[in-house]
Amino acid sequence: MKTSGNTVLITGGGSGIGLALTEALVRRGNRVIICGRRRDRLKAVQARVPGVSFRVCDISRTRSRHALVDWLLSEFNRLNILINNAGIQRQIDFLKGPRDLREADEEVTTNLVAPIHLSAQLVPHLRKKKEAAIVNISSGLAFTPLAVVPVYCATKAAVHSWSLSLRHQLRNTSVRVFEVAPPMVATELAGERNRPEAGDFVMSAEAVAAGVLEALGMDQYEVALGAATNLRAKREALFSAINQ
Ligand SMILES: NC(=O)c1ccc[n+]([C@@H]2O[C@H](COP(=O)([O-])OP(=O)(O)OC[C@H]3O[C@@H](n4cnc5c(N)ncnc54)[C@H](OP(=O)(O)O)[C@@H]3O)[C@@H](O)[C@H]2O)c1
Repeated sequence: MKTSGNTVLITGGGSGIGLALTEALVRRGNRVIICGRRRDRLKAVQARVPGVSFRVCDISRTRSRHALVDWLLSEFNRLNILINNAGIQRQIDFLKGPRDLREADEEVTTNLVAPIHLSAQLVPHLRKKKEAAIVNISSGLAFTPLAVVPVYCATKAAVHSWSLSLRHQLRNTSVRVFEVAPPMVATELAGERNRPEAGDFVMSAEAVAAGVLEALGMDQYEVALGAATNLRAKREALFSAINQ
C-alpha cells in the first residue's frame, strides 16, 4: 500500500519505536496522530516533529479509549491507518505467588485487550477508506518466550494469533492487517536489559520503523525483523489449510 499521504494513529508514539515511526512517517508525508499517558512526552514530540497531533490517553482504560476514538472520528475523518504499538513489559516471578498479578493484568490489558478494542471500534471507519491498514507491533518473543517476562510473551503470542484471524476476517475489505515482530530494541520498554551495546541482535528503533514502512510498501503482511526471524521458527503452516 502507499506509504505517503496517509493519516495514521500511533499508540505509544511518545517514545521508542512509536517515536521513530512518527518521525519516519512524517518525513514521508503522512499526517500522524500519537497518544500515550505522559503529556510531556507527547508535547515534546509535537515540538520536535512538525504537524503531529496528540491526545493523552491510557489505552488500558475503557473510558479513555472511547474518548480517543470519538475524538479521532470527529477530528480526523481521513484516518486510514491504526498502528497498535503501545506496550509494557514486566518481569513476573511465579515463585513469589500472586503478588505481581496486578502487573500481569495491566500487561494483558495494554498489550492485548486495548489493540483488540481499538481495532474493533475503528474497523467500521477504516472499511470506508479506499486503502486502510491495521499494523500490530508484536515481538520475536511471540514465537519463543523469554521466561522472565512470561505474561508479556503470552500477550505477544496472542497478538500474533489474533493478527492471523483478523487478517483473514478482513480479507475482502480495504483493510489490510500487518504484523511486525521486532527483535530486542534499545528503548525504555525493558530498561537496562535492552542496552544498545547488548549485542548485534539489538536493533535501533529507527531500523524497526524502516522495517514497518517497508512491510507496508511491499504489502508484506507478516514480518519478523533481525533476530526475530530466528525466534519465529514455527509457522502456522496449517493455517491456510484449516481456514478456507
Ligand atoms: N523494545 C523491545 O525490545 C521490543 C521488542 C519487540 C517488540 N516491542 C514492542 O514495541 C512496542 C513499542 O515499545 P518500545 O520498545 O518502543 O517501548 P517504549 O519506548 O517503552 O514505548 C512504549 C510506548 O507505549 C506507551 N504506553 C504504554 N502503556 C500505555 C497505555 N496504557 N496507554 C497509552 N500508551 C501507553 C508509552 O507511553 P506512556 O508511558 O507515556 O503511556 C510509550 O510511549 C511495544 O508494543 C513493545 O512490546 C519492543
